[in-house]
Amino acid sequence: MVFTQRVPKELAGEVAPLNGALSESALASLPVADFGLYLHVPFCNVRCGYCDFNTYTSTELRGFRREDWANSIGLELDLAKRVIGDLPDIQTIFIGGGTPTLLPPGDFEKVFDNIESAFTSDIEITIEANPDTVTKESLSGYYKAGINRISFGMQSAVPSVLKVLDRTHDPKAVSQAVELAAEVGFKNISLDLIYGTPTETDNDWTESLLQALSLPINHFSAYSLIVEPGTKLHQQVKSGQVAPPDDDISANRYLIAESQALAHGFNWYEVSNWGKGGARCRHNEIYWQSGNWWGAGPGAHSHVGGIRWWNKKHPAVWAQDLASGDSPAAGREVLTPDQLMFEAVMLSLRTIGGLAVSRLENPNPLLGLAKDGLIDPKKLDQGHVVLTLEGRLLADLVLRTLMK
Ligand SMILES: C[S@@+](CC[C@H](N)C(=O)[O-])C[C@H]1O[C@@H](n2cnc3c(N)ncnc32)[C@H](O)[C@@H]1O
Ligand code: SF4
Repeated sequence: MVFTQRVPKELAGEVAPLNGALSESALASLPVADFGLYLHVPFCNVRCGYCDFNTYTSTELRGFRREDWANSIGLELDLAKRVIGDLPDIQTIFIGGGTPTLLPPGDFEKVFDNIESAFTSDIEITIEANPDTVTKESLSGYYKAGINRISFGMQSAVPSVLKVLDRTHDPKAVSQAVELAAEVGFKNISLDLIYGTPTETDNDWTESLLQALSLPINHFSAYSLIVEPGTKLHQQVKSGQVAPPDDDISANRYLIAESQALAHGFNWYEVSNWGKGGARCRHNEIYWQSGNWWGAGPGAHSHVGGIRWWNKKHPAVWAQDLASGDSPAAGREVLTPDQLMFEAVMLSLRTIGGLAVSRLENPNPLLGLAKDGLIDPKKLDQGHVVLTLEGRLLADLVLRTLMK
């Protein structure tokens, strides 16, 4: 999952230029920073009650057709070429959703055909997949199209928890899909899990982890359930129909995730992410290292050299702008040095590499944080702020203390 896709409201920020132009100083960052592409697929068969991602069921598309997505993405990538000149080396592509696996492999092949010359030889291409939307044939097609990493939305292995989340898949669909993905050649397989769902017990969560970790995967993400305003879950919590997630319970679930991860040979490398044998999501690492990326698709966010912009959210409106030759951006923001510093501290603090002490304006709170057991004293001696397990539970508090 890509949290950076959800930040600003559609109309916030300043007006973005119709031709999408970027300043010289932003463009100057392209040859020196890592570069990734995010492709947003805004379609779902049904909306899960907890989800506020930019996605549309077939009745909400106002005439936009799923089969036109690849063509419009092609137009946005042409715009990217006009704005930034030749595309820089593309190190990663992340196809996120929505449900990208509602589209056939040929759509992605079509998109890749026009940009393949910019791919690095070890490019990572990830697709997010809903377990009940794939077949052996479609998985093989994605793999043959060049997609070499797949992330399935498992969420839980417990039927009653999946029901609270409104998930459409049966728990068995996850093991079947993962086995099939491994069979057709995928070596990088990840699972997304959610903990802290109302009605979930510690045993349910342990069961979900055990089932996930028994599969041929080398990566998983575990997110605490967030009750997003405007969702069906938010309504249910507000009306008292469903209990809100409890912070202490969620913290305990995080500890369970860490201990099961370690017992199965997985290590954390970002607060919500664990990998085995050095596996990581390199695309997310570009976000966490404040690199550059172009997000193409409805509502997608981009960042190049301190300029951040976000596209219009509805697929029909996004596509119409592109068809007219205009940028589909809804707004943009030129980040101030203070904002850039805050984001770099916030994002790197959550990773195993941590934050270089030299980046902090005020390093005074560090000794206290180490004494409280929230950051690793040995790493601090080496000039890095790295969270301990206790610190990972209180990452926001550590951030606030450092940025005071
Ligand atoms: C937006 S979904 C897209 C992929 C795919 N459609 C799916 O549902 O798995 C990406 C991931 O975001 C996570 N997610 C979405 N909404 C969330 C929420 N409110 N709280 C915690 N995690 C959430 C889920 O784990 C999900 O797998
Ligand atoms: S399938 Fe994924 S993107 Fe679609 S509504 Fe559910 S969580 Fe959101």
